[in-house]
Amino acid sequence: MQKITINKILNQKGKKPITCLTAYSSSVAKILDKYCDIILVGDSLGMVLYGMKTTKEVKIETMILHGRAVKKAAKRSLVVFDMPYKTYSNKFAAYKNARKVMKLTNCDAIKLEGGKKIVNIIKYLKKKGIPVMGHIGLLPQSSFNYKLKGINSNQKKKILDDAKALSESGVFAIVIECVVESLAKEITKNVRVPTIGIGASKYCDGQILVIDDMIGLSNFRPKFVKQYSKVSKIIEKSVKNYCIDVRNRRFPASQNVYKL
Ligand code: KIV
Repeated sequence: MQKITINKILNQKGKKPITCLTAYSSSVAKILDKYCDIILVGDSLGMVLYGMKTTKEVKIETMILHGRAVKKAAKRSLVVFDMPYKTYSNKFAAYKNARKVMKLTNCDAIKLEGGKKIVNIIKYLKKKGIPVMGHIGLLPQSSFNYKLKGINSNQKKKILDDAKALSESGVFAIVIECVVESLAKEITKNVRVPTIGIGASKYCDGQILVIDDMIGLSNFRPKFVKQYSKVSKIIEKSVKNYCIDVRNRRFPASQNVYKL
């Protein structure tokens, strides 16, 4: 088993598609670790696990607990920790919080949302030895609507400029969320680092999805999600059968009982 490094991710650009999914627990991370290049401990956990309306409510302490659980189970994949809202408002706060995260979770890198505006923060973190993944396009921590981005020339230019600025500032990969296909293609062609798409087309260097959406555990099913199974149905069937068994005194059966 060879640990996935940042250099390996960089070398995959334009060659071998990078596979990424989110994980929030040890049990899921253990499965992903066999197959994924990158596991993201995403702040999407606020909405997916905790029923929050947006990711802006997520606290760093909550993220640290999940980050630690995921990293403990993931021996091979590169584990990236998503820095929550308002934890990187300036370079000093960003470094203080990122250092705490790295120390307490042992994650391999962090992810920040934003373009040109956060370039000085990324450069500072890089100088201090903290690897950063970028995130452009739809930015849940600062968006008021979850709509497709890059639909007019102003938006396209801004997102492309943001991508170039991130790449030059030293990120090792850039997540592109929910943008039109032609823009994702242009960005991927014009930046030196790998692009990881979510709703951003096959032209990206890799793909990421939120695990609960992809396995059919959540109800979130936008066009860009491919549902590979319907885990909510499996859970429902199991719970229903368990309750029937208990009510009919079929569970516990003799093999589930301790006898002297
Ligand atoms: O928080 C998250 O899960 C993310 C992915 C959607 C890229 O940022």
